[in-house]
Amino acid sequence: MLLEIKSLTKKFGGLVAVDGVDLEVEAGTIMGVVGPNGAGKTTLFNLMSGQLKPTSGKIKFDGVGIDGLKPFRIARLGIGRTFQNTSLFDRLPLTVNMAIARRMRTHSGFFDSLVPIREREEEADVARRALEMLEFVGLAGNAESIAGSLPQIAKKRLAIGMALVGEPKLILLDEPTGGVGGDDISGLIELICQIRERGVAVCVIEHKMRMVMGLSDRIVVLNFGRKIACGTPEEVSEDPGVIEAYLGSGYSA
Ligand SMILES: Nc1ncnc2c1ncn2[C@@H]1O[C@H](COP(=O)(O)OP(=O)(O)OP(=O)(O)O)[C@@H](O)[C@H]1O
Ligand SMILES: [Mg+2]
Repeated sequence: MLLEIKSLTKKFGGLVAVDGVDLEVEAGTIMGVVGPNGAGKTTLFNLMSGQLKPTSGKIKFDGVGIDGLKPFRIARLGIGRTFQNTSLFDRLPLTVNMAIARRMRTHSGFFDSLVPIREREEEADVARRALEMLEFVGLAGNAESIAGSLPQIAKKRLAIGMALVGEPKLILLDEPTGGVGGDDISGLIELICQIRERGVAVCVIEHKMRMVMGLSDRIVVLNFGRKIACGTPEEVSEDPGVIEAYLGSGYSA
């Protein structure tokens, strides 16, 4: 199992945002993460990527205990992520955004910095991989555009590329279709499926139920921090507890 989460809990004062969650994600599969607003979805991602430390519980990734590790360590072990509010270097070109994301993962050590040839080779490698990734996410034609000038859909694609360019084994996508409409959504679904085809596992938080049902191999449903169901899309959509949690919440199955 690529990711194994046991009894994971995060408290903010008296509020239990994530409450004793167990979860397993298999390599190369898509796990949909759903639940009403405030259910604890983003908090769960923040625990997995090290932005938050758990109050209790264990997270094992690729055989290594990662709970409580710093975000950059977890990134290097192979978990990439995007944020609910897309975070880019708005004034910089796409190539530079991508290169920064790549370097954050590979980062020359002190001894590398003493060897200019090695460094030049590394620069060339970073630039090549940045371009390759822009192509993968469908932005090769905008490589020199300034990130802040892009439409929302392109920003979302760039953020996904930046999460992938460090060659993670798992990526966490927090509402990748937020603020994106119509035709653009089907393109994003296709992109997420292509990520799985690369052998990368995906955890995706998504409010659009039809989309998450169509995309995911398995779905976990959170409500008030608790896991109330986990299984195939068919299993969770027929689960009485899930139907009840969603009644009157404005969601459509
Ligand atoms: N840093 C924090 N400090 C205090 N409370 C927090 C913090 N982060 C999240 N919370 C609370 O924890 C609960 C879960 O929040 P979380 O952001 O994980 O929900 P979510 O499922 O991602 O919701 P949404 O669908 O609205 O993005 C909420 O009640 C939220 O107010
Ligand atoms: Mg959230």
